[in-house]
Amino acid sequence: MKDATPQAVYLSDYTPPAYLVDKVSLVFRLDPAATRVLSRIEFRPNPDAAPGQPLVLDGEKLKLIGAAVAGEAVKDGDHTQTDTGLTIPASRLPAEPFVFEAEVEIDPSANTALEGLYMSNGMYCTQCEAEGFRRITYYPDRPDVMAPFHVRIESDEKVLLSNGNPGASGDGFAEWTDPWPKPAYLFALVAGDLVAAKDSFTTRSGTPVELGIWVRPGDEGKCDYALDALKRSMKWDEDVYGREYDLDVFNIVAVDDFNMGAMENKGLNVFNSKYVLASPSTATDMDYENIEGIIAHEYFHNWTGNRITCRDWFQLCLKEGLTVFRDQQFSGDMRSKPVKRIQDVLQLRARQFREDNGPLAHPVRPSSYIEINNFYTATVYEKGAEVIGMLKRLVGDDGYAKALDLYFDRHDGDAATIEDWLAVFQDATGRDLSQFGRWYTQAGTPRVTVTDDFKDGTYTLHLKQETPATPGQPDKQPQVIPVAVGLLNPNGDEVQPTTVLELTEEQQSFTFDGLSAKPVPSILRGFSAPVILDRKTTTEERAFLLAHDTDPFNKWEAGRALAKDVLARMVTDRAAPGPAYLDALERVARDETLDPAFRALALRLPSEDDMAQTLFDAGVTPDPLAIHDAREKLMLALAEHLSSVLPGLYEDMSIPGPYSPDSKAAGCRALRQTALAMMARLDDGKTAAKQFRDADNMTEQLGALGVLLSVGHGQEELGTFYRQWQLDRLVIDKWFALQSSLAAPGKAADTTLALTRHPDFDWKNPNRFRSVIGGLATNAAGFHDPSGASYELVADWLIRLDPMNPQTTARMTTMFETWNRYDADRQALMRGALQRIAATRGLSRDTTEMVGRILG
Ligand code: ARG
Ligand code: ZN
Repeated sequence: MKDATPQAVYLSDYTPPAYLVDKVSLVFRLDPAATRVLSRIEFRPNPDAAPGQPLVLDGEKLKLIGAAVAGEAVKDGDHTQTDTGLTIPASRLPAEPFVFEAEVEIDPSANTALEGLYMSNGMYCTQCEAEGFRRITYYPDRPDVMAPFHVRIESDEKVLLSNGNPGASGDGFAEWTDPWPKPAYLFALVAGDLVAAKDSFTTRSGTPVELGIWVRPGDEGKCDYALDALKRSMKWDEDVYGREYDLDVFNIVAVDDFNMGAMENKGLNVFNSKYVLASPSTATDMDYENIEGIIAHEYFHNWTGNRITCRDWFQLCLKEGLTVFRDQQFSGDMRSKPVKRIQDVLQLRARQFREDNGPLAHPVRPSSYIEINNFYTATVYEKGAEVIGMLKRLVGDDGYAKALDLYFDRHDGDAATIEDWLAVFQDATGRDLSQFGRWYTQAGTPRVTVTDDFKDGTYTLHLKQETPATPGQPDKQPQVIPVAVGLLNPNGDEVQPTTVLELTEEQQSFTFDGLSAKPVPSILRGFSAPVILDRKTTTEERAFLLAHDTDPFNKWEAGRALAKDVLARMVTDRAAPGPAYLDALERVARDETLDPAFRALALRLPSEDDMAQTLFDAGVTPDPLAIHDAREKLMLALAEHLSSVLPGLYEDMSIPGPYSPDSKAAGCRALRQTALAMMARLDDGKTAAKQFRDADNMTEQLGALGVLLSVGHGQEELGTFYRQWQLDRLVIDKWFALQSSLAAPGKAADTTLALTRHPDFDWKNPNRFRSVIGGLATNAAGFHDPSGASYELVADWLIRLDPMNPQTTARMTTMFETWNRYDADRQALMRGALQRIAATRGLSRDTTEMVGRILG
């Protein structure tokens, strides 16, 4: 039974736990349908909490076999048991520390929600963040209760893993001890027929660490890259943050059924197999890059998340924002910093700005939630990382390093808050951060409007900030916005190198003296703050910055803005793309001094969804079909304009020898792919068809197939591809996603419907479901088909998935979060689909919350 009215939890209601835990011992007797979990938990009254409180333990979907307090069985009437937990009254508890013991039975085989202990392809695995441990046994399942765990697993499975260091093991059992106190959400257990790819790492203080990546037999050859990324991450965290690993072993397990990307369980990370397994013939450059970034992310959590965790789930950004920021730094160091920054901003705008400017907008640190799993969002993660980037810019690299050292010193072993985090920066640098703190509490993307004037050698920038109202927050206060600015002379020389203006008031002016001519400003260099920059400017100025800006981000941004201007005019006035844009891009295409990866990004057109948001921001109701057509036309115009450059570029970017995933080679392939996509508009896909036949790696094979589909060909190749990769789930996911995401607008719903009838559409597997249904969402013109057919198809499937997997269903309702951008007909259709979901009997708490918020 689902509760009728889901209860919200409020940050302001936080109270410390009544009891702390000194030690946890668990015994698992594994059985697919009837696993027994025996727990022995050493409790002690919390000196910082009111005395004489009952013991409240969380527990869901547990069958209680028996429990005892201080060795005495708890009898009926001694406790209250509900479907969310177990409460033992204070009268039944000793005033001193005491031991609580319980035996429960759980059914991993029936666990389709993939939270707690579940089965994936016959293997046992767990996912406990955020509140999955309560589906394993009765426990105070909150992150501010931390304890060392001892685990004994009894099972005939070949491999038995848990957190910490291995202990005794033998026929049918294995024991693990994790000496580091941890909250229950970091617990993990894995058991199954697994093999390991092994390696080792010696920490800088000389301690050897055994590394293992555990996969299903047959996949052990696909772990080299993940292992290499892990070792580089371990070294980087020592070199850059001074953080060493703290156990004898570090294990990673690849799991096929997983709701998210990966999980940082102490010493035993569990990963969606998509972010571990790679070989040149099955993984794309993007897969390799994601693996590197996610391996790093989860490893970095060992300090930012595990050694220092969150006091409560409102503080989620404390670990996630910081860890994303760290993994972004790492990837920038491993690859190209400017290219990484551009990619991160593209993501931020595509996911976080979209969220922040719609009905789901919420602060980086929310103040209430119904289901915490609904707050693992782009705002908490990506905007959370941007906030840290701004802090670093404001206090400088040295200030940041000092603050981080203090953070690790002061809070190691703590469950901390955002206030603790900001206090560390204040104490280390002396800077008052009270106003800066608004970045954590105010939702919405600030809009910074810029005007300028020039008089007697003095150039003045006038900045004005405004943050729009968001749900529950009608009025906003000014925020601290670091605006990195540089000035260029009309001849292209930089006359003012990058300097950071601190915008703290609603309106402020900044002057630059001693200039001989009115400069061209380069504003928000490096995307120094997550804001929308609003400035009237000319095509010539944008082309000038694309040619001359010394800041690579703004150089790219200038080209991007040009493309958006051109596309917007094509959509609204049916204007043809002018020579200024085409010539500027030709210069980029021909400029061999530029990094190929950068050139690829600069030549790529904005996505249809990005254009829809851009038009909406400018007060125009976006028509997804018109945007699609305009983008296709612009692609053709660009291809024609570049027709003499493309074949040479395509040849030059081909790399002889065997495939290597390194960033330089990947950059060349990215540029080659961009050229191929344009060439297909001129040669009807001939070059792409040849590339498909000749490809010896997945990047080029899949790239060619995508291009063929986007010019209306590729049906035969789809068949070839399927037959070749039929047995490789991760590759077949790509095959599905490509078809729903690239179907022609009028055919998207039918194509997707047909895919859902394919025998390989295993809809209970989250990766497969996301490939097909999520793929349709990335097909903007197809998803927004005026008939509403795609909306209905998505609603049907979300309704079907919800009882099986509420978390993935709830997350995918965000496909509808942009309804308020569109025309009245589409709005009515989208709202209708949402209302149909909302009206479903027994709808999960997760999906109920999301649909309610989206409808507003
Ligand atoms: N902490 C994980 C990460 O960012 C995410 C796990 C989220 N899982 C969930 N069910 N909400 O790496
Ligand atoms: Zn994380």
